[in-house]
Amino acid sequence: MNTPALQVIDLTRSYGEGVGAVRALDGVDLGFARGTFTAVMGPSGSGKTTLLSCAAGLEPPTSGRVVVDDQDVTDQDEEHRTRLRRERIGFVFQGFHLLPYLTAEQNVGLPLRLADRRPDATRVRELLTRVGLADRAGHLPHALSGGQQQRVAIARALVTEPAVVLADEPTGALDSATAREVLGLLRSSVDDLSQTLVMVTHDPVAAAYADTVVFLVDGRVAGRMDRPTADAVAGQLAHLADLAVGGAA
Ligand SMILES: Nc1ncnc2c1ncn2[C@@H]1O[C@H](COP(=O)(O)OP(=O)(O)O)[C@@H](O)[C@H]1O
Ligand SMILES: [Mg+2]
Repeated sequence: MNTPALQVIDLTRSYGEGVGAVRALDGVDLGFARGTFTAVMGPSGSGKTTLLSCAAGLEPPTSGRVVVDDQDVTDQDEEHRTRLRRERIGFVFQGFHLLPYLTAEQNVGLPLRLADRRPDATRVRELLTRVGLADRAGHLPHALSGGQQQRVAIARALVTEPAVVLADEPTGALDSATAREVLGLLRSSVDDLSQTLVMVTHDPVAAAYADTVVFLVDGRVAGRMDRPTADAVAGQLAHLADLAVGGAA
C-alpha cells in the first residue's frame, strides 16, 4: 500500500543529437506517494512539461524507468501506453482542452467511454456536484466561464479514479480569485478522494496548496520543500533563477 502512485527512476530525456542536443531531463529520481499533492516548479525550459509527458507515457524517456501503481510502464507498446493514459492517468491542462461539441456531462464521461466503460451517470453527476456544476451539466464549454471549464476538466480527470492526476499550469489562464477556487478543488481531490496530484506551476501561491514542492533546474532536481508557504517558495525560486543563469553563462 505504501508504494508510490508514481515513481520515476533516473529518468533522462534528450532532444536532438550531437552539439545541438538538449537534455530536457537529466537523471530525475522522484516518488509521489499516494494521496499527496506535489507542485513542480522551475525556470522556463527546466523540464517540467517533459517530466509530465514522460510520466504519462505521452513520450518515451531516453533512459530510466517510469512506474505507475507498482507497474513498470517504461517499455510498454503504444497500445498499452494509450490504455495507461486513458485509465490510470488524469490530465488537467492550462487551456482546459474540453471537446467543444460535448456538454459538461459528456466531457466528464468521455474518459470512461474511451476506456470502453459505460459512463456511470451517477458518478458523473457526483463529480459535477463536487466541482459545483450540478446545474451546468447540459452546457457546452463555450457557455461556461474559464473557471467553470477548468472545473469540468478536473471532474473529467478524476472520473476514472486514476493512479495519478497530472496538471500542467492548471491555473495559468485564470484570474487569481478563480485560481484559488480551482486550487481548493484540486486540494480537496487529494484530501477527500485520496487522489495523488502532481501540478506544474510558476505561481508560489498555487504551490503553497501542495504538501511538497519539487524544484527543477536544467532537467535535474535542485531541491524540495515540505509544507511550503508562498513566501518561502518565492525566495527559493529567486535563488534558483540565479543558479540557472549561472549555469547557462
Ligand atoms: N519536442 C521538443 N523538441 C526539442 N526540444 C524540446 C522539445 N520539447 C522540449 N524541448 C526542450 O527541452 C527543454 C525542457 O522543456 P520543457 O519540459 O517544455 O520545459 P518547461 O516545461 O520546464 O518550461 C527545453 O530546453 C525545451 O526547449
Ligand atoms: Mg512547460
